[in-house]
Amino acid sequence: MDDVREKYLGQIANAADEAALEDIRIAAVGKKGEISLKMRELGKMTPEERQTAGPALNALKDEVNSAIAAKKAGLADAALDARLRDEWLDVTLTSRPARQGTIHPISQVTDEVIAIFADLGFNVAEGPQIESDWYNFDALNIPSHHPARGEMDTFYMHRAEGDNRPPHVLRTHTSPVQIRSMEAHGAPLRIICPGRVYRADYDQTHTPMFHQIEGLAIDRDLSMANLKWLLEEFVKAYFEVDDVELRFRASHFPFTEPSAEVDIRCSWDDGQLKVGEGDDWLEILGSGMVHPKVLSAGGIDPNKWQGFAWGMGIDRIAMLKYGIPDLRPFFDSDLRWLKHYGFVPMDRPDLPGGLSA
Ligand code: DAH
Repeated sequence: MDDVREKYLGQIANAADEAALEDIRIAAVGKKGEISLKMRELGKMTPEERQTAGPALNALKDEVNSAIAAKKAGLADAALDARLRDEWLDVTLTSRPARQGTIHPISQVTDEVIAIFADLGFNVAEGPQIESDWYNFDALNIPSHHPARGEMDTFYMHRAEGDNRPPHVLRTHTSPVQIRSMEAHGAPLRIICPGRVYRADYDQTHTPMFHQIEGLAIDRDLSMANLKWLLEEFVKAYFEVDDVELRFRASHFPFTEPSAEVDIRCSWDDGQLKVGEGDDWLEILGSGMVHPKVLSAGGIDPNKWQGFAWGMGIDRIAMLKYGIPDLRPFFDSDLRWLKHYGFVPMDRPDLPGGLSA
């Protein structure tokens, strides 16, 4: 009986898990276990033998059972310890920042405008920021003596000594992309051209570098009426209002004839702009029917095609929509400003999902 005792207690001590323990229990004290079978043999013993063997077997059975129970508890404790070690967490660590960057209002508004005009069938075109005198001025019907040249506060590039060609310029507007697109694609054409432009000017609403979006549509029979409808659709979508009133004010640009500046009806209450209501008017863009000379410069026959064009400041419409009072911090890279006015990176503007949701 000592051998049996030793064998099972040894096995129990070495059992690696509960399943192994259960196997041992069945082999020792299960219905057909070794100790159980021995207990059944008690009946065949003499009364004297039974008197010593009976209690001894019972004691052995109890001892094995309690050794199994103790080992089981030990295994459970060890498993819990291992789990606690695995799941240990240093609560003194600082929390992980939710997100790092934000989308700059210029990028946001550019994407919003692109989403709107893409939905209206316009492609995005781009051109160089260092532009030739011809693309920036002459091709747009701004000859060298024209006063508009002076009004643009142009940055001129350096020319080598003795080089008498007109110097290149930092483009003063996105209109030269009109010419480049006409040359590249011909008519019909529907494009918008977002990008950086440059003028020597600096105050609360002017910076030497800013952003414009140019628009150009060329087809067989376009008119100011088409332009008016398009711009109304745009303004409603952009300012996310159901109704707007636009005012077309006669104006002058060398590259359009006739020309109009476009104002929207708005109100300013406590410095808060509301579009579509009120007694104020706010200028948002310049536009007109493309001048025949500009079509010709782009290689398009003005007797067969007409077009309308418009140009607006991205920074300006960003300030208006998002209530940003000063233009200069747009380009200061101040993280506090970017966090405050920036947009969540994953929310890309689209018409079904909402532009600025
Ligand atoms: N290029 C003009 C500017 O920078 C804006 C503009 C006005 C663009 C009328 C146009 C237009 O295409 O038709 O002030």
